[in-house]
Formats: sequence, C-alpha cells, structure tokens
Amino acid sequence: MVSALLPFEGPADLSRIEAPVTLKAYLICAFAACGGLFFGYDTGWINGVLGMPYFITLYTGYSYDYDRKQPIGIDPVNFGLPSSTKSLMTSILSCGTFFGALIAGDIADFIGRRLTIIIGCLIFCVGCVLQIASTNQTVLFVFGRLIAGLGVGFISTVIILYMSEIAPRKVRGALVSAYQFCITVGILLANCVVYSTQDRNDTGSYRIPIGVQFLWALILGTGLFILPESPRYHVMKGQLQSAAKSLAYVRGQPIESEYIKDELAEIVANHEYEMQVVPQTSYIGSWVACFHGSLRKGNSNIRRIILGCGLQMWQQLTGINFIFYFGTTFFQQLGTISNPFFISLITTLVNVLSTPISFVAVEYLGRRFLLIYGAMGMIIMQYIVAIVGVTAGRIDANDPAAVRGMIACICINIFFFATTWGPTGWVVIGECFPLPIRSRGVGISTACNWFWNCIIAVVAPYMVGNSKGSANLGPRIFFIWGSLCIFSMLFAYFLVPEMKGLTLEQIDKMMEEVSPRKSKKWMPKTTYVAELARRDAEKSRQQWRDVHAATNTTGGLESGMMGGGYQEANEMGAIDPYGHGPTHGVHGGSGGYGNSMGRDPYESPNTVRY
Ligand code: BGC
Repeated sequence: MVSALLPFEGPADLSRIEAPVTLKAYLICAFAACGGLFFGYDTGWINGVLGMPYFITLYTGYSYDYDRKQPIGIDPVNFGLPSSTKSLMTSILSCGTFFGALIAGDIADFIGRRLTIIIGCLIFCVGCVLQIASTNQTVLFVFGRLIAGLGVGFISTVIILYMSEIAPRKVRGALVSAYQFCITVGILLANCVVYSTQDRNDTGSYRIPIGVQFLWALILGTGLFILPESPRYHVMKGQLQSAAKSLAYVRGQPIESEYIKDELAEIVANHEYEMQVVPQTSYIGSWVACFHGSLRKGNSNIRRIILGCGLQMWQQLTGINFIFYFGTTFFQQLGTISNPFFISLITTLVNVLSTPISFVAVEYLGRRFLLIYGAMGMIIMQYIVAIVGVTAGRIDANDPAAVRGMIACICINIFFFATTWGPTGWVVIGECFPLPIRSRGVGISTACNWFWNCIIAVVAPYMVGNSKGSANLGPRIFFIWGSLCIFSMLFAYFLVPEMKGLTLEQIDKMMEEVSPRKSKKWMPKTTYVAELARRDAEKSRQQWRDVHAATNTTGGLESGMMGGGYQEANEMGAIDPYGHGPTHGVHGGSGGYGNSMGRDPYESPNTVRY
C-alpha cells in the first residue's frame, strides 16, 4: 500500500493541496507544448509536397517546364499524382500515429513519460531519414511516413499526459491549450516552408520541408533530458523520493515545503484510492479494465473512455481538417478565387491567431461552455457557407462577393474551432482519466483522433471531388459538417463535465459524485488523504465492533489493532522521502486518532498523518 510508504502529514484542508503557480511551472509546460509542432507540421507539409511539380515528376515520370510553370506533354489538369498514391502517402501517417498512440500509453507507464517522449523523437527522426533518403521509391517513402507517424503517435499522446500531470491545476487548461497553439503554429510553418520550396527544380523541394522537422525533434528531445519526470508517474511506481523531488522541481518549491508534502500526500492517497477501486489483474486484464464499469456511472472507466474517444471523434467530425487538408482545392473549385494558396494561408493564420484566446477562455469560461457554444458557432457558420454555396455562391452565379462571404464564414468557423474544440479536446482528455488508466486512456483517445483524422483524409476528396465515382458535393459538404457539429454540441452538453480549477484528484471525485450537467456547481468537500483516513477508520471501527461482539471485551483489543497499523508504517519508515525515519501509522501517534486527544477516536482530524 502506497500510503503506508508515506509517513508524513497530508492535507484535509482543500486550499493546501497545491503550491502557488511559479514562472518555472509555466515555462516547463510551455516547453513541453512544443510537441504540438510535430503534430501540426507533419500534418501540414504533406499536402503541399504532394502538389509540387518536382515531386510529381519524380513519382510519375511526367516532365515539367519550370520557367513557364507548365507540365510538358500533358494537360495541367491531369498533371498530378494518382489519387491512390496521394491517399496512401497522406493517410499512412495517421496509421502510424494511431498505433503509436495506442502503445505509447503502456510504454509511458513502463519507462516513464519523459523517456517515452525522447524515444518518440528518435523514432520520428528515423522516419524522416527514410523519407529523405527515398528518391522515387514509393515503398521507402511510405515506410518512412509510417515510422515517423509512430513517433508522432508517441509524442502526441505522452505530451498531453505529461503536461496534464505536471501543470498546476489553475492553469492546466491554459497550458494544455498551448499544445494546441503549437499544433496550429506547426501547420502554419509547414505551409510557409512548403510555399518557399515548391518551385525548386531539385530534391530540396521536398527534402527541405521534411528535414526541417529534425529541428523540432532536437529541441524537444534535448529539452526533455533536462526536465523532470512526472511526479505522478513516480507515485505510480512507488518511488516517493523521486516523486517528491520532481514535484518540488516543477512547483519551484523546496522539497521540505509544506505545499510539496501536502500535494504529494494527496496524489498518493488518490492513487491508493483508485487502486482499491480498480481491480488489479494481468496485462490483458488491465486493458480490459479500461472498459470496465457501468455506463450509468459518470466515473466508471468505460464512461471516461467514451468521454475521451467521443471528444476526439467529434472534434475531427467538426470537419476542421477538411479545410486544412483540402482547402486549397476546395477554394479552387469555388471559381472566382485567383490565389487559393493565399486563402489557405489565411485560414491557417486565423487558426494560429485565434488559439491564444482559449488560454484565458478555457480557465474563465470553462471546458463545457467552450465546447457547447463553440459547436453552436460552427453549426451556424457551416450552414451559412453551405446555403450561400448552393445559392448566390454557385460557380455559375459567378458572384465574387458571395464567395468572399463564404470564405469569411469559413474563417469565423475556424475561429470558433480554434478557441473551443481545438484546445479543449486535448485539455479534457488530459484530465478525465484516473491515474491507474490515465496513460492508456489518453493513448486510446489520441488514437481515436488519428483514426478519424485518417478517415476524413481518405473520404473527403471523394465527397467533394468531381471525378468519376466522387459525390461532387462541393460547398454542400458544409451541410454535413454543420449537422455533425449538432452531435458534437449534444455530446458536450450531456457527457462532458466541467473540470476547470480542480486538481486531477478532485476531478475523479467530481465525476464520481455528480452528472456532467451538474458538474459546474460541484465543490470539493474533502481530500483523498482525509477520505482514506476516514475509510480506514471506518474499517477499524467495524473490526473493533466485530471483535467486541465476538469477545464482549474491550480492554487491550483496540490498542492491539491500532498497533498493527503503527507497526506497518514503522517498517516502511525507511523510505520516507523526507527522511523522517520511522513515524506513526494512520491510527497511531500524536497525529492519529488517539483517545488521548479527547476526540471521537474515528473522526477525521484536519491533518491526517501517513
Ligand atoms: C486537431 C487536428 C487539427 C488541428 C487544427 C487539432 O486539435 O486534432 O486534427 O488539424 O487541431 O488546428
């Protein structure tokens, strides 16, 4: 039992469970957020590269006149990679990320969050090398993307886990939103790099955009060498000394600080509580445990998995990636636009510039508010785009003003996404899982993001395309995205609880006690330290009653039982992270529930001793 390993005082006072936020805490999380660059950049560069004349000539054998900017001997409309190649090269990344995200959780529990991210960076670099090494070998290029995807899967899962576990509760949402900000910056950077190399008549056209990514791996990988491991990971492993050290580091407090002791005691107590509730079984059993519990109980594992996966699925089904993946071709189809690439660049810029608003909004307005009203905003904007698209904005109507209006609405739609569903999807999956299944839960949810990302990447071109076998929906596709946003809104309303301002441990309690719709008003009443002490006391009282009933004598029995706990803690006292030496167990000593203090022996005091 972990609590028996922690012979120091824990808080019953709710205000003392976390140290004040320091600049250092901000900086550490802000740095970890750089992981978002991989995500954004890697999704951003492929589209541009697939449209590059040099890349197309390399894989198709067509010729291209770089001075006149025209293909030779082939109609420009047909100058391009076959759809199957495009689809394979685009979606194989999501395939790698899907599997990477799924296994990353296990690895992060086994070797730690920090090391898993560093390994993710290395795998990613291997994937980049393979892509750069390929000249016109589709297999090598595709294999390289699969491997790079694996690395991105590791990073995209474990960064969320790491950031949520080290960020102070009051700014956790804002700091995880910084991850989303880095995704958007990654997409923008990819667009800029691809824009600057697209006309090159050599392998630099595609090798430079791929090679730039080494920089992100180098920055994140080396930075994480310096940063500490997540204290919650150490607690999971029973390494309390290390947990205390890294908690002190990330909070910028001395290790002896009361804040550090109290916060650590609460993390330990929560972990122990969760371990009591979640049955510990085999490896397979522990995977199955992620799907355990009743659908009616808000805090059951299955409900949390539905929450995490649902959020990621509905985030993708808002249709945002249709704009970022296929915006350029879609804008081309609208007819009156002369520079679709420029419009695409504007959409990515709107995405980047809007996201920082969420840093504040996610903490002030809360997760639920953003998800519900963000979806509403997207429903309205996407329906307007669709309605204008089938009336005044039709190609044969040739009305530039109507098309400009549609583009404005698409930008406002991006604004709604970037300030709400974009960041909040990540914030919530970092917060909603209990420690024993947190890494897997985040992994499964992230894999779900990549799964739907992949589906959209494969399906959307056929939905809007005008070639044979395509649905040729054109702007009508926004009716579909708008309608899907209605489901996103309902999902948020019925299933997403409000988690702002709570510690990860308090979130557990809140999900146990109230439904998502009532969660906003929920206030923490107790700490896990106090709760565990209360449970132990209750257990002892029951045992005492049983023994009393059996023997009908009280003398000596109570003190004998208490002595059991005392002795257990004394034996474990050797690994007290603060070097207190053997101290008293839960029921023993001056801080316990002794009769000598004149209290009800089983009533929880303000400070609980572990
Ligand atoms: C989504 C990505 C999307 C990006 C756009 C992220 O939250 O998961 O799929 O491309 O936002 O900013």
